[in-house]
Amino acid sequence: MGPSGSGKSTLLYTVSGMNGMTAGEVIFCGRNLGNLKEKELARLRLNEMGFIFQQMYMLKNLTVLDNIILPACQSDKIRESRKETARRGCDLMHKLGIIEIADNEISEVSGGQLQRACICRSMINQPGMIFADEPTGALNRAASKEVMEELTKINGEGTTIMLVTHDVRVAAKCGRVLYIVDGNIKGEYNLGQYKSREELRDREKTLNNWLLELGW
Ligand SMILES: Nc1ncnc2c1ncn2[C@@H]1O[C@H](COP(=O)(O)OP(=O)(O)O)[C@@H](O)[C@H]1O
Ligand SMILES: [Mg+2]
Repeated sequence: MGPSGSGKSTLLYTVSGMNGMTAGEVIFCGRNLGNLKEKELARLRLNEMGFIFQQMYMLKNLTVLDNIILPACQSDKIRESRKETARRGCDLMHKLGIIEIADNEISEVSGGQLQRACICRSMINQPGMIFADEPTGALNRAASKEVMEELTKINGEGTTIMLVTHDVRVAAKCGRVLYIVDGNIKGEYNLGQYKSREELRDREKTLNNWLLELGW
């Protein structure tokens, strides 16, 4: 979290190897990203990282399902037939509650559905880590809650998620919150793993107080 222009996206894109760095190092799965060539980085991102953005970057001439499975068609990690890939894509869509829009055009579905499709796409290559830059930024409250519930579920199943958000309700579901100002980490709060809805209100309050102290 942090004010606009504080460097949240920059941190996310540096850790994921999309931005180069001028100092320090990023070790991802035991590999120093600073030592990798552009091609190796692209391969690592395709195979081991998933990305979700506020802007959804779906290809308009493909159906929702085809958008979701596209990264698997490009990957050399996933060795399976196109049919198997499509089946996995459908399984993910089913899990995220959007199977009914598999064959729809991008322009035919709602923002909440599309963002859930983006989550499916980010998971299709079974990455160890998902990066999400304000994934609920363009969504209304209800859709935002649904998307966050899905991300929490995925996280509970073992995928690490690093996300940027302006929303305390979203952040309250995270285990660890960093607050960034002017490119520096100004504070860190360890909320611990989010387990049940009953604790959500308390987590929101705790986080809110901490953020106010930091001048949020
Ligand atoms: N650690 C840093 N050192 C120097 N410049 C930074 C750093 N982090 C961010 N910036 C610069 O600050 C600007 C805003 O960063 P950005 O990541 O887009 O902010 P946010 O996502 O928090 O709104 C960018 O131009 C970026 O190059
Ligand atoms: Mg940003």
